[in-house]
Amino acid sequence: METIINVNNLCKTFKIHKRGTGFKGAVKNIFHPTYEYKKAVNEVSFSIKEGEMVGFIGPNGAGKSTTVKMLSGILYPDSGDITVAGYIPHKQRKEYVANIGVVFGQKSQISWDLSPLDSYEVIKHIYKIPDKKYKENLERFSELLDMGKFINQPVRQLSLGQRMRADIAAALLHSPKIVFFDEPTIGIDVVGKDKIRKFIKTLNQTDNITMIFTTHDMQDIEKTCERLIIIDDGKKLYDGSLENVKKGYVSSRIIEAEFESLPITLDLPHTEITDVENNAMKKLISFNTDEVSVNELMTALMSTHNIKDVSIREPEIDAIIRDIYEGKIVMN
Ligand SMILES: Nc1ncnc2c1ncn2[C@@H]1O[C@H](COP(=O)(O)OP(=O)(O)OP(=O)(O)O)[C@@H](O)[C@H]1O
Ligand SMILES: [Mg+2]
Repeated sequence: METIINVNNLCKTFKIHKRGTGFKGAVKNIFHPTYEYKKAVNEVSFSIKEGEMVGFIGPNGAGKSTTVKMLSGILYPDSGDITVAGYIPHKQRKEYVANIGVVFGQKSQISWDLSPLDSYEVIKHIYKIPDKKYKENLERFSELLDMGKFINQPVRQLSLGQRMRADIAAALLHSPKIVFFDEPTIGIDVVGKDKIRKFIKTLNQTDNITMIFTTHDMQDIEKTCERLIIIDDGKKLYDGSLENVKKGYVSSRIIEAEFESLPITLDLPHTEITDVENNAMKKLISFNTDEVSVNELMTALMSTHNIKDVSIREPEIDAIIRDIYEGKIVMN
């Protein structure tokens, strides 16, 4: 497989206007503005092969969206190189955009006043999509994303999940070779997420589209990606297989339990109880299956407390990042 995306020592720093506090500070600021600098992307390098599907994860503010924006040519890098499909995105934007699709979960790309179908007609015109291709894609996406019921309704009337599906179809209508997804499942329910994941995976596999998928949801990654890039504080922390990461995090577990009464104590080593916001009766119990078995923990809990509800949570991205820093997960 050929390399299609190449990123080398990519850097981007934002200059942020620092506001003074109070009246005096505000006045002082007008005459002597002060700035802070935030290194959002710090010497990031990676390369992606044609047809690959790469999960891009990291905590809030890690630099994921900034990287995606530079990859799609919306933002200029300060330094470093990017080539995608032979183009330098920010320099050859006009020719480049025909080759890529971009989906931002936080921001709709299609018009609120039009129906998805009307927007698609506009896109067809802008990208000069041939009739046959347009029809083919439209029919296929409409079916795969289950859009029949709302394709003629104004976008403002759609649910978030419907709107997102309409957005995804819009980004793919011109048959791009590469697609960047920045949190396409954010705020969407389980059923909606599943439709999106299936669609993304199908297009990656059957059409060999190269994809980068940014998300905070590990389930998104597990359902679609084999390779994972993790960034934290602007730096690349991990680049390797999901399988390898899973081996490391598979032993850390969190149980969410709702109790009948207080206080809640647990006399078991290697376990930690933390609060769940807004509910004193609900607790998270973190443990590691290398040290305590689920069975042992449940027995200890049930013998000392009355439990209303209990469920096992998937390990979160923060836990994975902690494991990387602690050396429990190393790049493979
Ligand atoms: N236009 C901007 N001006 C100033 N600072 C910015 C700008 N865009 C991003 N930043 C800062 O750069 C850092 C990286 O932001 P970015 O949006 O890339 O993070 P992210 O990984 O996408 O986070 P999230 O998971 O919350 O979407 C943050 O500290 C953010 O505040
Ligand atoms: Mg982001």
